[in-house]
Amino acid sequence: MALLPILHYPDPRLHQSATSVTEFTAELKQLAEDMTETMYAAPGVGLAAPQVNVHQRLIVVDVSEDKNGLMVLVNPQIIAREGEQEYEEGCLSVPGVYSKISRAARVKVKAQDLEGAPFEVEADGLLAVCLQHEIDHLDGKVFVDYLSQLKQNRIRTKLLKQAREEARA
Ligand code: NI
Repeated sequence: MALLPILHYPDPRLHQSATSVTEFTAELKQLAEDMTETMYAAPGVGLAAPQVNVHQRLIVVDVSEDKNGLMVLVNPQIIAREGEQEYEEGCLSVPGVYSKISRAARVKVKAQDLEGAPFEVEADGLLAVCLQHEIDHLDGKVFVDYLSQLKQNRIRTKLLKQAREEARA
């Protein structure tokens, strides 16, 4: 197991679209394990492969309080959405930034497991938010993309400054 470095906004690699997983290899399982360890260590409730610079359609999610609700989704796709909810979101790729984002209240997601077997998940509340947020990453979308241009510029400036200070430290 290994902790993977997480790309930080505004890294252009976060805006790259991920490709579908077609081979369910030992490497894919290893990547899912490393992503899970990285998510728990951060700590975070979700992580998408593009955030660790692997541009494949794989996400890990765990919104439980005691880390016993791990879900690994390969090639996840939202097949139904309903209602609306607002939630204050954050992202491991946008450290220290939280903002209210409006998303569907309930979603149905179709995905495959690490062996390639298909399954479906129905989610509401935080899990629904998290699934939509992580699936966005696979399409090269970060939650700040939903904010006004002015807010995006402020966040960009703040994170670039943080990165410069970290580089100097
Ligand atoms: Ni994120």
